[in-house]
Amino acid sequence: MNHLSSTKTVPDAGLMPKHIAIIMDGNGRWATKRFLPRVAGHVKGVDAVRGIVEACIKRDISFLTLFAFSSENWRRPADEVSLLMRLFVTALEKEVKKMHDNNIRLKIVGDLSRFDLPLQEAIQQAQELTAANTRLTVTICANYGGRWDIVQAVNKLTSANPSQNDITEEMLESHLSMAYAPEPDLFIRTGGETRISNFLLWQLAYTELYFTDTFWPDFNAKALDEAIHSYQARERRFGRTSAQVSGASKTE
Ligand code: IPE
Ligand code: IPE
Ligand code: MG
Repeated sequence: MNHLSSTKTVPDAGLMPKHIAIIMDGNGRWATKRFLPRVAGHVKGVDAVRGIVEACIKRDISFLTLFAFSSENWRRPADEVSLLMRLFVTALEKEVKKMHDNNIRLKIVGDLSRFDLPLQEAIQQAQELTAANTRLTVTICANYGGRWDIVQAVNKLTSANPSQNDITEEMLESHLSMAYAPEPDLFIRTGGETRISNFLLWQLAYTELYFTDTFWPDFNAKALDEAIHSYQARERRFGRTSAQVSGASKTE
């Protein structure tokens, strides 16, 4: 499965990342710092998403994956959760048509069964409308958890093949919710925390990690370029030695 082999094939140093995955953190603190309610930070955060999607298109990035709501975020106060849901619905209503016009494929991954039915339907429609688009795939992780993803993959795999007992990595990977995408090359977390918070646990195995103190609403094209430059200055080795990677043979 070639498209899943980023942990096996070393991309040339200095290339643009193909897939960027972002934990959009710091909305609440952005707002609190300005004596605004936390929700104001989430509203500004949607604007930042728009800016970064545009920047990714200009930079020819193929996959952008955004962590919008984790399976743990239900633990927040009920009014913040319901506001986030409303924002999600509004953003879908406002942005999907524009995304479609820009040849963007939209995917929403996570345990969607916990969302209201109208939201589930809006998600379904947005995905269907944009399914054949090819310029950039934007994945929104909503009610997503990396552990949930691995467990749902195991469940799908074992229910499809009840007598299967030698499960391989490739078999499991093909049932992960983002099996349509290569593993992320570059992971970015805004907002100053240096943790993964149950994001793409399986897929981040060999991703280059980048953490910035910038709060998500302030994260713009220039900040994205800083992350990309940091990525381009690194040597990805996937277990090999530096001499091997800079030599001629880069694949298995
Ligand atoms: C990220 O910002 C957005 C979501 C988790 C939905 P936060 O809301 O976590 O902002 P901080 O971390 O409290 O500043
Ligand atoms: C991670 O942010 C999830 C999203 C950005 C959607 P959190 O702010 O919820 O992460 P923790 O709980 O502080 O690790
Ligand atoms: Mg946070």
